[in-house]
Amino acid sequence: MNKTAVIEKIIGSPMLPKKDKAKAFAPSNIALCKYWGKRDPVLNLPMTGSLSVSLNPKGSETQINIQDAKEDTIIVDGEKIKNDTTFGKNLIHYLDLFRAPTSPRLTITTCNNIPVAAGFASSASGFGALTKALNQLYDWQLPQKQLSILARLGSGSACRSLWNGFVEWHQGSDPLGMDSHGEPLKTTWPQLCIGIVTISSQKKPYSSREAMAQTLETSTLYQAWPKQVEQDLKAIKKAIHEKNFLELGRHSEQNANAMHATLMASWPSISYHLPQTIEIIQKIWAIRKKGLDVYYTQDAGPNIKLLFLEKDKKTVAENFSCSDIIQPFSTNY
Ligand code: PMV
Repeated sequence: MNKTAVIEKIIGSPMLPKKDKAKAFAPSNIALCKYWGKRDPVLNLPMTGSLSVSLNPKGSETQINIQDAKEDTIIVDGEKIKNDTTFGKNLIHYLDLFRAPTSPRLTITTCNNIPVAAGFASSASGFGALTKALNQLYDWQLPQKQLSILARLGSGSACRSLWNGFVEWHQGSDPLGMDSHGEPLKTTWPQLCIGIVTISSQKKPYSSREAMAQTLETSTLYQAWPKQVEQDLKAIKKAIHEKNFLELGRHSEQNANAMHATLMASWPSISYHLPQTIEIIQKIWAIRKKGLDVYYTQDAGPNIKLLFLEKDKKTVAENFSCSDIIQPFSTNY
């Protein structure tokens, strides 16, 4: 399937901008039950469902300005990105999906308050914010679920970055992916805390796209993954509903480790762990044995995100040098 068919269904033909500038913010998100593996790599359709929590106020703010120039200009965190890099090409390909050939070129300026490409899902918030800004620029007036489908075409997990709070990404079964989008959960959990332990902000050695493809092709453990997700998704939703933190922590941690196990079992083997990642994980396990209810999750990068409740904030901060502690449901930002 190709992206043009999806665009046609959602916005009709490519068009000219209705405004000369637009600006939007989208939060970053971390998956508690991971998306790992594509059933359609062009449309970023997942093999399974997944569930995340948004990291508001961490995320991306994207501004679009139309410009009188032959080429688009991309600026990320104050730095001009060359249009012929992988990042530049992907972004321009995405912009081209929506615009008529005679449409003016654009300046895209994105500011992230979270490290780019280090497993902090900045591509999710980046494409989330860009899609929201495009919705204003072209005056599509699309509902969030349609925007979620468009954001998914840029980066899979971006379809969960359209909302704050817990968001489930439905796997869907439609070949065009019209039923594969995010949906927010109603439950809020003000006491839930996420501690970001930054081990490295370096660009990750393998993109999630490459790593997913290699896992699907070569990892025998991948066969067990859909079953793992089915169990974890169910358990995590139940834990959220019942505010059962121990169950939430356990299934989130187990799900992350199962994902990394499929990666490790691929050939050539892939690991996002650095020595300090393992050190932190062992520290979490040791401290949990002593009675502190702290769990973790890890995305496609070496950094660890601690999961704990507000009552343990002080102890967690004393024991781990978290670069940030986020309370996704707090209203104090
Ligand atoms: O959306 P992508 O291509 O950046 O992949 C995201 C993959 C994970 O972050 C590891 C898992 C997830 O569900 O976000």
